[in-house]
Amino acid sequence: MISNMKNKADISTMGTPSTRIDEKKALAEKTLAAMTLAEKADKFRCYQKSVQSPDHEVGFFEQAFRDVFQRKPYSLREDFCGTFAVCCKWVKSDSERTALGVDLCSETLEWGKANNLVKLSESQKKRLRLLEQDVRKKNRPQVDVLAAQNFSFWIFKTRSEVVDYFKMARANIKSDGIMVMDMMGGGDCQIEGHVDKRVVKKGKRGFRYYWKQESYNPINHDASFSISFKFKDGSWIKRAFEYHWRFWSVVEVREMLAEAGFKESHVYWETEDENGEDTGEFERRDSVPSAPCWISYIVAVR
Ligand SMILES: C[S@@+](CC[C@H](N)C(=O)[O-])C[C@H]1O[C@@H](n2cnc3c(N)ncnc32)[C@H](O)[C@@H]1O
Repeated sequence: MISNMKNKADISTMGTPSTRIDEKKALAEKTLAAMTLAEKADKFRCYQKSVQSPDHEVGFFEQAFRDVFQRKPYSLREDFCGTFAVCCKWVKSDSERTALGVDLCSETLEWGKANNLVKLSESQKKRLRLLEQDVRKKNRPQVDVLAAQNFSFWIFKTRSEVVDYFKMARANIKSDGIMVMDMMGGGDCQIEGHVDKRVVKKGKRGFRYYWKQESYNPINHDASFSISFKFKDGSWIKRAFEYHWRFWSVVEVREMLAEAGFKESHVYWETEDENGEDTGEFERRDSVPSAPCWISYIVAVR
């Protein structure tokens, strides 16, 4: 019975050999010129171009570690590493630096191997390790800096899940080490349908990035977000990435870090220049004025 059902599933999802050949032929007939820009685009490449700033992340990890220990950090663990662009930047930034990237999605890791890892020198590749696993696992050696970027731990929706993850993260950090995570907030993040759009690349091959607040439940803080890309010819990759998270606040996260055993935590807020423009630089703050939309870092000391 079970094997019959499996065969049925195979036929329905994969097609018979002749239909597969027809499909391949039809695809081959569709020339590159006839494809829309969205069809030609690679969603991971668009993501990296629009969302990630590995240079900035590596610079910030160093600043935050120096603020606590007055020396340079050498080992990094990037939890929820995705295509591990930050790990790659880390091993490139110093010939003694090592990085460990952890993510449970094989498709994403494979993309990173084919597109990011290949650009590293042999020496840099040797200092980068990847693990396809849940972040809630103990691995050795412990590291100076553990990073969980792009709000990824918001996937854990209950207090006990987050505290368990923080305990494990703490166990993966050296006794003189830090954990870094980014946070977002502000009233705009609670407006269903709110969209933040940006031109990422100009010119013929340019595209726009759309970050949409799909839903926000004020009772339990369940929040869904999506990333879409729109291209010059009007074509879209709609909802290329979707996230279903709990919207955690800075104060809750700091309380959970303390509960997990972290000695102290600090909030880094973006500074403004004399015209009120964001500088891209972050400094420790205890009190800040409210803003409609902000991104900050929390740095926890083991
Ligand atoms: C929002 S993306 C962040 C990617 C990358 N850190 C960045 O900054 O762009 C979240 C990533 O977390 C991974 N992920 C989700 N739950 C995980 C878990 N429990 N253990 C390991 N990876 C997980 C997903 O596969 C995905 O690649």
